[in-house]
Amino acid sequence: MPQTLTRAPARATAEAFGKVSNLEEIYALLATLDIENGWAKREPSMWPRPRQNFVPAHWSYGPAKAALEAAGRYINTELAERRNLILANPIPGNTYATVRTLVAAYQMVKAGETARSHRHTANALRLVLDTAPGTYTVVDGRKIPMVRGDVLLTPNWCWHAHANESPADAYWMDILDVPTVHLLNPMFFEHHEEGLEPVTGTDEQGAFRYAFADSVVRLEAATDIAPGRREIALLNPQGGPAMATVGLSVTRLEPGVKLVQEPSTASAVMAVIEGGGTAEIDGKTITWTRGDAIACPAGLAQTVTAQSRCYLLHATDEPLMRALGWLRPIPAV
Ligand SMILES: [Fe+2]
Repeated sequence: MPQTLTRAPARATAEAFGKVSNLEEIYALLATLDIENGWAKREPSMWPRPRQNFVPAHWSYGPAKAALEAAGRYINTELAERRNLILANPIPGNTYATVRTLVAAYQMVKAGETARSHRHTANALRLVLDTAPGTYTVVDGRKIPMVRGDVLLTPNWCWHAHANESPADAYWMDILDVPTVHLLNPMFFEHHEEGLEPVTGTDEQGAFRYAFADSVVRLEAATDIAPGRREIALLNPQGGPAMATVGLSVTRLEPGVKLVQEPSTASAVMAVIEGGGTAEIDGKTITWTRGDAIACPAGLAQTVTAQSRCYLLHATDEPLMRALGWLRPIPAV
């Protein structure tokens, strides 16, 4: 049987446009040239203000910790690059991002385990939730202790591994800019050829670790922004944001004190280092406690109220939005 060849429609010539008698004919000819008309678009390309595409959401550490403990019976670090639980914002079709630009995940490394070295262009940080002495991260060959409340960085293209030489399973929350990398597409990832990168020394202090003990001291020395509210930025050694795409701050609130954030184009994840309280975002009331994560999407006002003295980590895409000239308040409708 001879094969039937499907012919692509002929591409319209300039001459063809000279003979049209209506707009529909122009559209048909444009289609053969892979051109869309810009005056009667199928979908608008601009709109007056940001669309609300992510919703406020809350994840409790308690059940996530139990889930990781259970998963630890079936998943080892040979099978999984990382044993983690992705906090995917509950909007239709989303299985990954926590807010538009960031993803948060809980991770566990069991006593005696290592999570092998890899590196990626995505910027990452972790808030240490539960560890015992002997748990550490290796960043570019430097061993960095993981102590409860610490914030550790593994910026763009730094090798990193995790090791737990303690008798207790170790838990933390990762926050990465992977959704931003997905949007812009500069994704690179590779494993270290030696499995676990060689350790050249230990850094108790340094550019990759914000020890919680240091943050507590800094907050103690800081002045109130408002009665009962203090805040410090976790900056890089040059004085800029912690990482190119992610800014970090720690807020201390006394019991009963409120933190009000007006809506802007920035998205954030709030992670609870210590304490408990409530949050109101877009009419949704959330009750949070230590280790919990809260998605604070762009465009929504938030009011956080402390019930006990609390320390809150905010990871925000503000540096990215500011660098691009897109950090703006979003007025209420
Ligand atoms: Fe990683």
